Amino acid sequence: MTRIAAVILSLAATAPAFAAEDISYTADGRINAPAEYREWVFLSAGLDLNYAPAAPGAPSVFGNVFVNPAAYRIFKETGRWPDKTIFVLENRAASTKGALTKAGKFQAEVQGLELHVKDKGDWAFYTVNAGAPAQKIPKTADCYACHQLHGTVDTTFVQYYPTLIAIAQGKGTYHENKGEALDKPRIEPAKIDPNAKPASEAILRAVLDDIAGHRPPAPMTPAARAMFAAVLPRIQPTLEKFGVLQSVKYLGRVDPPQPLEYRGKPQKLDQYEALYTNGTVVWRIFVQPDGQIGRLVPFASTPKPK
Ligand code: HEC
Repeated sequence: MTRIAAVILSLAATAPAFAAEDISYTADGRINAPAEYREWVFLSAGLDLNYAPAAPGAPSVFGNVFVNPAAYRIFKETGRWPDKTIFVLENRAASTKGALTKAGKFQAEVQGLELHVKDKGDWAFYTVNAGAPAQKIPKTADCYACHQLHGTVDTTFVQYYPTLIAIAQGKGTYHENKGEALDKPRIEPAKIDPNAKPASEAILRAVLDDIAGHRPPAPMTPAARAMFAAVLPRIQPTLEKFGVLQSVKYLGRVDPPQPLEYRGKPQKLDQYEALYTNGTVVWRIFVQPDGQIGRLVPFASTPKPK
């Protein structure tokens, strides 16, 4: 081996080779979405790993997960994700159209891209809208809580990436117990006070009507609106299966094990049953002291028996 080749090799081994995949931000903190992620390391294709309750017969979705090669190499050595780790979750429609086989589904058009990025020791989620830089999802969004609570390696879902599990276990960075918890309800069953006065019936109705009309919901905090805009494409097809909203019934105030706070202010958590032509959806809404929705979660759903 020539001396020059040896020098280049040793440089390659020590320098954190991020240059080609570096994260580039716009002036307002958005990320220029990686164009070449399909050439990155493929970790897994999940099928229908939905975050919101799914209606029967709802179209299936594949979720393909990619990570940038530089981060992958460091993970293999250390079992940890370094700074400048970029995950891409690519959602694709599951199709049967024109398939030669009698059963089975294949991947079709892209339905959305989401990023999970570690920078300066901090993880953040971004949602990608076609052609535009990716928008950061506010820290109050559901994404952060679920990943924090249930991701087995540092807020990432390594338990679903089969080739990474043994690596993390070998390096002692795998948190087995967090993975199991995903099967349990996200919010523990809580006592409900049926005598509480609804703080939010009118606004919930307005929001549900807005969702049905494909308009962005209005009486929400900016953070809640941004989060909801990010998840709406995913839950909209499901909600449409439930048909037309007929009535909204207040079920009561949820009494959680710990007082709920948002930016230091107390929050209320109200539970509603929304009756649609094809079933019911239980919505939980977090109400700010000023009456705005701080968060809105489809908590459970029951399709009407045929
Ligand atoms: C209820 C739990 C839950 C919530 C809420 C959630 N996720 Fe995930 N996320 C998962 C699971 C499970 C996976 C595993 C792989 C998959 O979905 O194919 C995952 C994987 C991912 C990945 C791939 C990288 C990784 O971290 O493992 C990205 C990117 C991602 N989610 C983005 C989001 C965004 C953006 C939101 C909020 C809009 C969100 N997630 C909300 C459970 C959740």
